[in-house]
Amino acid sequence: MPLFHTYEPEEVFTPRNHEVNEKMYVDRPELEFALENALKGGKHIVVHGESGTGKSWLYKRVFAKTGTYYEVANLANASRLGSITKEIENVVNRTGQATVTGYKEGKSAKASVAVAEGQLTHEKEYEVGRQEPFEECLTLIRSRAGRPKRAAILVLDNLETIFGRRKLMTELADIIILLDDERYASHAVKLLVVGVPHRVREYFNETPNRATVANRLHEIPEVSRLSDKSAQILVYRGFVNMLKYAFAEHAQRDVINHIAWVTDRIPQRLHEYCLELAYHAKRNGRIVSTALIDSVDRAWLASDQSHAYSVVENAMNERETRVGRRNQTIFALGCLRQNEFRIGEVEDIVRSEFPRSTVDKRLDISGMLSQLASGSGRLIKRSPKGDSYMFADPRYRMCIRAMLRKRGEEIVKIQLES
Ligand SMILES: Nc1ncnc2c1ncn2[C@@H]1O[C@H](COP(=O)(O)OP(=O)(O)OP(=O)(O)O)[C@@H](O)[C@H]1O
Ligand SMILES: [Mg+2]
Repeated sequence: MPLFHTYEPEEVFTPRNHEVNEKMYVDRPELEFALENALKGGKHIVVHGESGTGKSWLYKRVFAKTGTYYEVANLANASRLGSITKEIENVVNRTGQATVTGYKEGKSAKASVAVAEGQLTHEKEYEVGRQEPFEECLTLIRSRAGRPKRAAILVLDNLETIFGRRKLMTELADIIILLDDERYASHAVKLLVVGVPHRVREYFNETPNRATVANRLHEIPEVSRLSDKSAQILVYRGFVNMLKYAFAEHAQRDVINHIAWVTDRIPQRLHEYCLELAYHAKRNGRIVSTALIDSVDRAWLASDQSHAYSVVENAMNERETRVGRRNQTIFALGCLRQNEFRIGEVEDIVRSEFPRSTVDKRLDISGMLSQLASGSGRLIKRSPKGDSYMFADPRYRMCIRAMLRKRGEEIVKIQLES
């Protein structure tokens, strides 16, 4: 037996792993604390954040830590099947009915089931001796959880796939209300709703008769980018502790800063980028150096960001008219740190990044942004309130950061084909 297990890059950097890799998980104390507290409270829980920010890993980690039993229903499937109840039925089938021995036989021939037809519940026939799927699922989860006091959760993941689909959102509201009903509540199973959209509570608040639903939901703070420190830990741990690679002399800070910058510290993007870098470093004698960065940027853009690359590329001005102002503006967008931004903020960045070509000039940033926000392959869009802008897809900012370089006051883009 070797003293040290040696890992391959894809065992360390796992951008699409459903299972949490305990060795690579970086702690997120505030979010974990918020979720742990929410588990103790009486409400159902909402976890929201952009794609790849680590929502699924967060709840899996916290559930493992707190010994919480859970099953996951995938709302993407519900969307495909046109019904949440159908997906809940899948959960029951998947989890193995064979293990369910605690059923009260002949409980009811008729059970109320939440179906989205505008009213709260809807009578539907089920076989005698069988519960309707939602209740069956709660029974199953409770019996699987074992100890009566053990927290048990039904996770409804990928809310974004049904958000805005009225029928399914109504069904979700029905399910939440149904859990107040004594028969359903007796199983003491709580819901954890997970997805990209924010203001889920407000969504329900604004739908007629659904404010009661909002009162039953507790939203934990947004799951977002990692802190600087956590991103550093993730990269260092992966390359040095796990892979046993070394950083070239004086390269560590620059490389880690670059990775944090282009990935915007989004966990999934960090793993994607580091995986590419690890492959390159492996061929480089297991040394991570700044000389690898350009080719890793290119490889990452080509394999994981190709759609974003073409959107940015199309938005750029190839003819470089008006001293490439449009390209300077796009570059400046990449420098923004916040998701929503105003015209003045972009103008400030353009002026400070390109002082020579902007001095004493009037810049029509307003017109530029409105062009970039129009058309089908648009780079940015107006914020819901209409007084500022945001990226049409948060990946575009990362892509701009990896793809555009400043040469003097001109912008050059990294070409994908070398
Ligand atoms: N705390 C963490 N520490 C280290 N890596 C993490 C952490 N959280 C997430 N990751 C990495 O990011 C990847 C994506 O995480 P996860 O699947 O939890 O994101 P998500 O927010 O659920 O995304 P989606 O909205 O697409 O479902 C994981 O596969 C893992 O590689
Ligand atoms: Mg997820």
